[in-house]
Amino acid sequence: MKQRLTEPYQGYFRQQNLQPDLEITQTGPKTPGGEYLRRAWQPVALSEEVGEHPLLVEIMGEELVLFKTTKGVYGLIEKHCAHRGASLEYGIATDKGIRCCYHSWLFAPDGRILETPNAPCGVTLDNFFHGAYPVEEYKGIVFAYMGPPDTKPDFPVLDTYNDYHGEESQMVPYSLHYPCNWLQIAENTQDPIHSCFLHTSVSGTQFDDSWGVIPTIDWVATPYGMMNVNLRRWEDNIWLRTTETILPNYNQAGAFWERPDEEKAFQRVAMTRFFRPINDTETQVMGWRFFNDVVDPQHKGDPGAVGKEKMDAIGQLDDRDYLSQQKEPGDFEAITSQGRINIHDRETLLVSDRGVSMMRKLVRKGVQAVRDGEEFVSLPRHFSGVIPTFTQDSVARRPALEGVDDDKLIREYGLRYAQIVIESAKSSPDERRDYLQEKLNELDIQSVE
Ligand code: FES
Ligand SMILES: [Fe+2]
Repeated sequence: MKQRLTEPYQGYFRQQNLQPDLEITQTGPKTPGGEYLRRAWQPVALSEEVGEHPLLVEIMGEELVLFKTTKGVYGLIEKHCAHRGASLEYGIATDKGIRCCYHSWLFAPDGRILETPNAPCGVTLDNFFHGAYPVEEYKGIVFAYMGPPDTKPDFPVLDTYNDYHGEESQMVPYSLHYPCNWLQIAENTQDPIHSCFLHTSVSGTQFDDSWGVIPTIDWVATPYGMMNVNLRRWEDNIWLRTTETILPNYNQAGAFWERPDEEKAFQRVAMTRFFRPINDTETQVMGWRFFNDVVDPQHKGDPGAVGKEKMDAIGQLDDRDYLSQQKEPGDFEAITSQGRINIHDRETLLVSDRGVSMMRKLVRKGVQAVRDGEEFVSLPRHFSGVIPTFTQDSVARRPALEGVDDDKLIREYGLRYAQIVIESAKSSPDERRDYLQEKLNELDIQSVE
């Protein structure tokens, strides 16, 4: 229960035994929260982490071994050998699968037991499998689906993976360890006002001065989750940024160093990421950074500084000494210092935290739906082509109007444009930007109630 102190110097009365909200923070097998996360593809490891030897991984509280056969086929299987439990991290990859070090049982990537050389002749294990999960490698990341086989979705290819406005682009995979629950990292993306403080006025400018302008923010539902509509007046321009959460635990974010000086429509992402639980109190943040002349025209980003425990922005991982972290904290320090699992009963949420509350509601609804045997609603389970998504930046020249409340005007632009961005998912990927530019030009609001 939430407790509010109402007198000065009342530290003594602070309730000490507050508990985390387990329903939406648990990740383990057969927990409601863990079942919910198991309805989507989750990243396992960077492809570069799997070489000649198997890789031991922990995902959502399950210990697993990721390996690659000598023919290049990936397998993700239970850690403990089905024979007598030796860890398959000490196994040897063959052309057909992985061979246990102890008595040489051979397992195929799908869990089939191919050989049991220690068994007397005549023993077969044809109807007996070791636990395994389906795996897909995509652009330097190995993903797995760990949910019930009959609800397995197609591997989701988002429209942003191939949309560079005709520019050359690089998608650089990365993986960062966070010693905290996944939900608080995901919530940070729906708390955009922190960019004015943490990333600008408190720690100094970590990205661009434009981030310091306090935005007008709204949050709206999308077909796969939600997005914040983050609006700023920049001289005669309005900068309309949308940042989406794709349930259960995906996010896409726009340009790091955005300057809203030039008019534009539907500029896409600098980052697609997955807040993949290791267990309830640790998370591997994985995804891709996008590098091209559109999202980073001045080449402030550095693809060479992105990868395994590497990111080309300050405060994104545990890579600094304590004094530097204290002098200039970033997202990593703010998020992980909330605790291993942030205690919601300790918080005091304000109007600007509506996105955080909305995300928790959506996650809870999803957890309960899965628990009750209903369908998990997010990305389409089957699709052809690419899946249209909603993170974008647009800049429109709209000088402030005399006698009109500018904040209200900006909010109105933002909300109407956000709906147009959602509707535009019907357009083909090739036509969507032109369609949105046209709609943005037409959108001309002269007064607000
Ligand atoms: S424990 Fe793996 S083959 Fe015996
Ligand atoms: Fe941030």
